[in-house]
Amino acid sequence: MEQEIVVQVHCISHTYQDKTEIKICGLDFLVKKGEKVAILGPNGCGKSTLLKHILGILKPNEGEVEVFGVDPAKEFERIRERIGVVLQEVDEQIIGPTVYDDIIFSPLNYGYKMEEAEKLADKIMHRLGIIHLKDKIPHYLSGGEKKKVALAGALILEPELLILDEPFANLDQKSEEEFIQILKEINLSRHTTVITALHDLELVPEIADTLYLMGPKGELSARGEPKEILQNPQLLERFNLRRKVVV
Ligand SMILES: Nc1ncnc2c1ncn2[C@@H]1O[C@H](COP(=O)(O)OP(=O)(O)OP(=O)(O)O)[C@@H](O)[C@H]1O
Ligand SMILES: [Mg+2]
Repeated sequence: MEQEIVVQVHCISHTYQDKTEIKICGLDFLVKKGEKVAILGPNGCGKSTLLKHILGILKPNEGEVEVFGVDPAKEFERIRERIGVVLQEVDEQIIGPTVYDDIIFSPLNYGYKMEEAEKLADKIMHRLGIIHLKDKIPHYLSGGEKKKVALAGALILEPELLILDEPFANLDQKSEEEFIQILKEINLSRHTTVITALHDLELVPEIADTLYLMGPKGELSARGEPKEILQNPQLLERFNLRRKVVV
């Protein structure tokens, strides 16, 4: 049986309010159930723009986006509960007056009983090592702490699809390793589909089984197994990517 396609994006263009035009074209962006997909590309090429279309935050002028079989710009409500997200600017998504309020918001919003929601919140906060931040005002957290709070909010309801925009920015090495471990575990045990935009070449094989390279003008030009792409000197040269450690 063919694996279910969870996300498909076909040649989209978007015009921001200030008339900046972004075209994300070339290869279709396809993600199957249970797949871990990474997107790598230079600053400003359109990675976050692509993810925001998948999340229905942006609507394309042209092209097609389908997530769990629906157009997210029109019907995101129908699929919202199945998706966890960490935006690049985590401040945009942390809305609770305290860390605990923020993390417990989703389960309460979806009708979980208080006792059940509290159990879930405690569990994920312990898992991410942030239980001591429970009563803090999110605004005063450090960059890495904010990222972990956003991650807790994204993971609390065990989503089928996890969308992560630069999740490793601001994380120290130990936190990065722990987070990668969590991603591996949920992908293995629950078959969670994970889409990650990032810059760190070295992390790609750890968090992805498929890698897309996006060129400076939003062109999706290469897709393959991370190993295959990262060992292709012409591709690395073309996308201006440098390996810190040569293998
Ligand atoms: N709200 C906005 N209004 C106007 N232009 C925008 C807006 N958001 C993004 N852009 C522009 O769109 C382009 C793509 O931005 P995007 O954030 O998708 O890039 P990115 O690949 O995620 O970059 P980075 O690696 O820096 O996160 C950039 O040139 C950016 O300046
Ligand atoms: Mg970005």
